[in-house]
Amino acid sequence: MGKLADLAAQRFGMDTNVGEVAPGPGQDTLAALLSHRTHRRFLDDPVAEETLNLLYACALSAPAKSDLQQIAIIRIQDPEKRAAIAALMPDMGWIGTCPVFLLFCGDSRRIRRLSELRGHPFANDHLDAFLNAAVDTGLVLQNFITAAEAAGLGCCPISVVRNHINTIAEITALPDYVFPLAGMCLGYPAHPGFTSTRLPPEIVVHTDQYDDSQLPEQIDAYDHRRHGIYTIPPEKYRKMAEYGEVDFYGWSEDKTRQVSVRERDDLADYLRRHKFTLE
Ligand SMILES: Cc1cc2nc3c(=O)[nH]c(=O)nc-3n(C[C@H](O)[C@H](O)[C@H](O)COP(=O)(O)O)c2cc1C
Repeated sequence: MGKLADLAAQRFGMDTNVGEVAPGPGQDTLAALLSHRTHRRFLDDPVAEETLNLLYACALSAPAKSDLQQIAIIRIQDPEKRAAIAALMPDMGWIGTCPVFLLFCGDSRRIRRLSELRGHPFANDHLDAFLNAAVDTGLVLQNFITAAEAAGLGCCPISVVRNHINTIAEITALPDYVFPLAGMCLGYPAHPGFTSTRLPPEIVVHTDQYDDSQLPEQIDAYDHRRHGIYTIPPEKYRKMAEYGEVDFYGWSEDKTRQVSVRERDDLADYLRRHKFTLE
């Protein structure tokens, strides 16, 4: 098996018939994408300012809808602010211990201020304004992760900041038209981490029309394949009091238990109070 086919097989736990490219920088980039891992344990080693600046530069090189660049990154440096944010999410110790913690925000404020400064109306004040800022921010976030990994660092994005959106916004003084998309833990990994087995292209990629008619069988196969690579230990089973024991606890059991808990009810309210029109 070639290098890329081998990494793709690790990613999916199966052969997905991927092609190879000649050895060189292109192959290295593809290999890096296939090798992505989230990291949650970090060395104490600091991240040099120049390195962080390099990551910002790479992250901000992401494509942006209409070149509007609707993103703001807030670096949390004040130890009291960091401790206050970490205390909101005590289950995720890495938020308090990682060498660098950032907040990636969608920013629809800047372009509106510029519209005002230039004396033009901001015409598309509807749901799309929110969506565009969210997508831009997601792309910057991904570039940041890819750049960090290439520089030997590791990342963990934190969407749980949205479970505490009002407090986070207060701590970081987020104005109208700015919303937190995700936090970002950054540091040198203390552990190699592991490759998380993804849903295979046969489930995710459709030809000409959407077709999930084979979903139950396909997910069953995925669950078992994933279980063979990494078995979720019983102490990590979620919501046992509500749903109890099952014959087989795989990814789909775990994820559907996870999403059975209602959260982030105040997100739409936050966005409306920060002046977004979600219609
Ligand atoms: C937008 C986003 C938000 C995330 N939020 C969290 C989080 O709050 N806490 C956490 O530990 N991991 C978080 N993660 C990491 C995911 O759990 C991780 O990407 C996923 O389990 C797949 O693992 P992998 O990235 O190692 O392939 C987040 C990832 C993304 C892309």
